[in-house]
Amino acid sequence: MGCFWQNRTPLSHIGSVTKKLFDDRVVKREDLFFTSKLWCADHAPEDVPMALDETLEDLQLDYLDLYLIHWPARLRKGAVGINPEDFVPVDIPTTWKAMEALYDSGKARAIGICNVSTKKLGDLLDVARIPPAVVQVECHPVWQQTKLREFCKSKGVHLSGYSPLGSPGTVMYKINVLKHPVIITTAEKLGKTPAQVALRWGLQMGHSVLPKSTNESRIKENFDVFDWSIPDDLFAKFSEIDQERQVTGDFFVHEKFGSYRTVEDIWDGEL
Ligand code: A2P
Repeated sequence: MGCFWQNRTPLSHIGSVTKKLFDDRVVKREDLFFTSKLWCADHAPEDVPMALDETLEDLQLDYLDLYLIHWPARLRKGAVGINPEDFVPVDIPTTWKAMEALYDSGKARAIGICNVSTKKLGDLLDVARIPPAVVQVECHPVWQQTKLREFCKSKGVHLSGYSPLGSPGTVMYKINVLKHPVIITTAEKLGKTPAQVALRWGLQMGHSVLPKSTNESRIKENFDVFDWSIPDDLFAKFSEIDQERQVTGDFFVHEKFGSYRTVEDIWDGEL
């Protein structure tokens, strides 16, 4: 369950639609990939299976293809929103054991974690019986995750990038990725849109990209990135882009409560 939408209704709407598609034999369950996230208020080991069961019930599914810990941060059970008085120290190894049990049960075909630094991923790999299959983090040309990317590659963990367009028009928006001169120039030279260039850059870097759109023509535009590529000379320019993290997680920082006193603590200095 997502932090900005702690409401089960949208998920159950998706469940109703996909159930009808399966019943009408428009698409098979195994041809779709369903991912969801464990919210911070459900980190207690006994709450982890209940949270997944709720999600499966809403989606009318028997299993998820991937279940991710949403943040390396914990909130009091039942907390609504993100408020300092609900902050509780996080204990990833304990929550991860409960995630591993979901993997063992087959209800989560793969498990992973979001919003971690290289150090936090390393700490998790040190204790995990089942290593995370996926790390999902902010990733776009203006925040390329160079250090984490190399570490993931060396450990065989797949990196998946959220906000691949820089989330224009959303609460997360801070950096105008789609207006960056390198992206604009590349798009003009290739006759593509800035969004297509940002997505294609991600694919050529070797990570998966998770663009979101509620607009049919933009969804089609975002799919049209597989039969062309950014040539080497233009691709090289992306490595010169100044880097800036957009999603800092500052909403989990508090002088007294929770696990993080500063934004640097969340990312272990990777800023
Ligand atoms: P919309 O739903 O109106 O298309 P991100 O995936 O980086 O989080 O960004 C999501 C935001 O990007 C949404 O506000 C979405 O708006 C917008 N968006 C999605 N696809 C495109 C596109 N091809 N060009 C411009 N904006 C896009």
